[in-house]
Amino acid sequence: MAIYGNKISPVRTTCVSGWHEHKDGTTSPMNNATGRPLMQAVPTTELTQFAEDVLAGLSTTPKSLSSKYFYDDEGSRLFQEIMKLPEYYLTGCEFDIFSTQTEAIYRAFANGDGKFDLIELGAGDGTKTAVLVDHFLKAGADISYSPIDISQEALDALTEKFNAEFPTLKMSARNGDYFQILDSLRIGDGRRKVLLFLGSNIGNFSREQSVAFFRSLREVMSDDDLLFIGFDLQKDPHVIANAYDDAADVTAKFNLNLLTRINRELGGNFNLGKFTHYANYRPVEGSARSFLVSREKQTVRIDALDREFEFDQWEAVFMEISQKYSLRMIEELASESGFQIKQNFFDSRNYYCDSLWRAIR
Ligand SMILES: C[S@@+](CC[C@H](N)C(=O)[O-])C[C@H]1O[C@@H](n2cnc3c(N)ncnc32)[C@H](O)[C@@H]1O
Repeated sequence: MAIYGNKISPVRTTCVSGWHEHKDGTTSPMNNATGRPLMQAVPTTELTQFAEDVLAGLSTTPKSLSSKYFYDDEGSRLFQEIMKLPEYYLTGCEFDIFSTQTEAIYRAFANGDGKFDLIELGAGDGTKTAVLVDHFLKAGADISYSPIDISQEALDALTEKFNAEFPTLKMSARNGDYFQILDSLRIGDGRRKVLLFLGSNIGNFSREQSVAFFRSLREVMSDDDLLFIGFDLQKDPHVIANAYDDAADVTAKFNLNLLTRINRELGGNFNLGKFTHYANYRPVEGSARSFLVSREKQTVRIDALDREFEFDQWEAVFMEISQKYSLRMIEELASESGFQIKQNFFDSRNYYCDSLWRAIR
């Protein structure tokens, strides 16, 4: 069902007087009044956030689409498939940490009294978190669990699993954007909150976005609360490059699914066969990037935007960055955001680090 139905008002144009730097270091004309990239022709009202972001992303050079929109129901299902791929080592690493260092993680979270509330941002299907919850409950901890995710499909899978495995667990799942619900985390009931941000989700943020995000978490955290973050570490570039370009092409389907979503929700006419997935890893910057590349010169119409977009042959649409970290980068991120590292947990190959942060008081 198409849900776009947006009203498009007369087109507004803005003057260019500067350059906006994108997350991949490239630039495009900037509107000086807003500091945002210039859209050549901007419908002004009543677009959904998704429509607005697609318009902004496809109107700039280079074109981009936000990875935040990967996770419709099919995207969530495909991501669960990606997590099982032999090339996608990240899930196995975090499983390794959670299964072999569970008691140490429990002691670090519990801080003596065993009473804390787990709040997971972008929980996905919660499979890895279940390993921790299982241990905490068996150790007699007094905990609750609040997973938050933008994907209802992922939350349904999680809720079904947790209800079956942990019938006594106090749980409240929330469907929504974690950027929108941060204020509601400011609960002053005196119980310790442990915020979980796993799966190297943070790798999809630029450095500036990461610091801003962590600072906004710090603002809603009490001094005794903790933040537990999964970071994928820098390693053999071949291992990283393969993780984003798997032999079974599931990552390609995952990226292309965003075009299907635009077709369905915004009335687009992308022909998926005319785009190919391309991923690379730049070891100097420590970043993996994925793109959808137009195989031919083509025009794509998106009804909800009342716009057509031209693609040159081999023009790339930037889809996602997956940053890889050194320990120094993790330390710098923590201190710039108002935190200090309480304890780091590594997997057996030192591929991955779950870093536990406490707020600097
Ligand atoms: C890379 S997956 C990781 C899932 C899980 N944390 C793990 O480690 O397996 C990212 C998850 O974050 C969710 N997500 C992405 N952006 C979000 C946002 N802005 N608000 C809430 N959830 C979001 C997605 O739906 C997806 O389930």
